[in-house]
Amino acid sequence: MKKSFAYKRLLIYYFSGTGNAKRAAEWIVDEANKKGLKTQLLNIAKLQKESILPLTESTLIGFCYPTHGFNAPPILLRFLMQFPQSKFRNNVFVLNTRAGMKMSKIFTPGISGLAQILPALILRSKGFRLVGYRPIDLPSNWISVHPGLKESVVKSIFARCERITKRFSKRILSGKKVYRGLFDLPIDILISPIALAYYFYGRFILSKTFIATNACDQCGLCIRDCPVNAISMVNEKPYWSYNCESCMHCMNYCPQRAIETPHAFTALVWWIAYTVLPGFILYLLHKQNVFGFAENENWHIAIRYFSEIVLGTAFIFGAYKLLHALLKYSFVNKLLVFTSLTSFKWWRRYRTPDKV
Ligand SMILES: Cc1cc2nc3c(=O)[nH]c(=O)nc-3n(C[C@H](O)[C@H](O)[C@H](O)COP(=O)(O)O)c2cc1C
Ligand code: SF4
Ligand code: SF4
Repeated sequence: MKKSFAYKRLLIYYFSGTGNAKRAAEWIVDEANKKGLKTQLLNIAKLQKESILPLTESTLIGFCYPTHGFNAPPILLRFLMQFPQSKFRNNVFVLNTRAGMKMSKIFTPGISGLAQILPALILRSKGFRLVGYRPIDLPSNWISVHPGLKESVVKSIFARCERITKRFSKRILSGKKVYRGLFDLPIDILISPIALAYYFYGRFILSKTFIATNACDQCGLCIRDCPVNAISMVNEKPYWSYNCESCMHCMNYCPQRAIETPHAFTALVWWIAYTVLPGFILYLLHKQNVFGFAENENWHIAIRYFSEIVLGTAFIFGAYKLLHALLKYSFVNKLLVFTSLTSFKWWRRYRTPDKV
């Protein structure tokens, strides 16, 4: 049987921090509904292992999710690892949303890195047949790093992406294959070392770049809505654990706009952790010439890495704990707000618009 023309059901699993990946999934579902398929849209963050639905032969399965640090979000990778094997060699597509921007009239794409390659490989290893492999460049939501895009830019990026996603859906649903993402394969492979560094290290450090200021009224929304339960209330203030995946949901949806990235504090702590601390330890060892340290270049390199990764990380985590304890003082709050870029009015928040 030519399976691709016999779809009766479309099942899309999605993960989304600020709504982009969900919106892309909804566009695909719209097209499938027009064709009379039974459709289901399932949020990975709310699913338990036991609620993964049984697959039938005529089911097309899709995965939609954002790109985080040139990779798929850890929550998605964990979900895929426990996803059942396909008995019927079901057709599957992966669609990652990336950081689309617009410079003057030119739309600029994001970079996937391993965000498509890894999910595609996991699914193949589970017996699925890959029929769709495509990124969609919706607006960037990484507002710790840059302000949210202007409404007019967001609108035009959405209008373009809706057209592209619907074209993709029509092709996939009519049994064709779309491997548009393969065009980016050389750059994706080149960037993969950074993706691995982000996955195994960077994301834990970024989890310590959120604070709730005095504007927080302890409504608890961020704690309730975090897809990975990374926030808890400590000393009457939200506290971010290293489980945070920087999906940006909390920061963009806080009704009081109380969540900030303390840029000056973060820069100072990173400078101490990665420059001052390793430099000081090297200086001490050099001065004492422990185990002939002064003459041994390999020792220098090993101690530098150790200081940066182990001691530097411990320092960053410790400094964050201290900062959180100091947040009860009004002048600390004021200083952090004053030295944070995210606190400026023009540093917009981002979330997928309801209507475009
Ligand atoms: C922590 C973080 C890392 C990101 N890394 C990348 C990246 O490596 N490449 C990229 O193109 N976009 C990257 N983005 C942008 C998002 O993938 C993009 O805005 C996506 O559409 C957001 O989807 P969502 O609204 O469903 O969460 C990153 C965003 C965040 C918050
Ligand atoms: S959503 Fe905002 S106001 Fe509510 S608890 Fe979280 S930080 Fe505070
Ligand atoms: S703490 Fe905030 S940014 Fe981190 S995973 Fe939860 S909602 Fe996303």
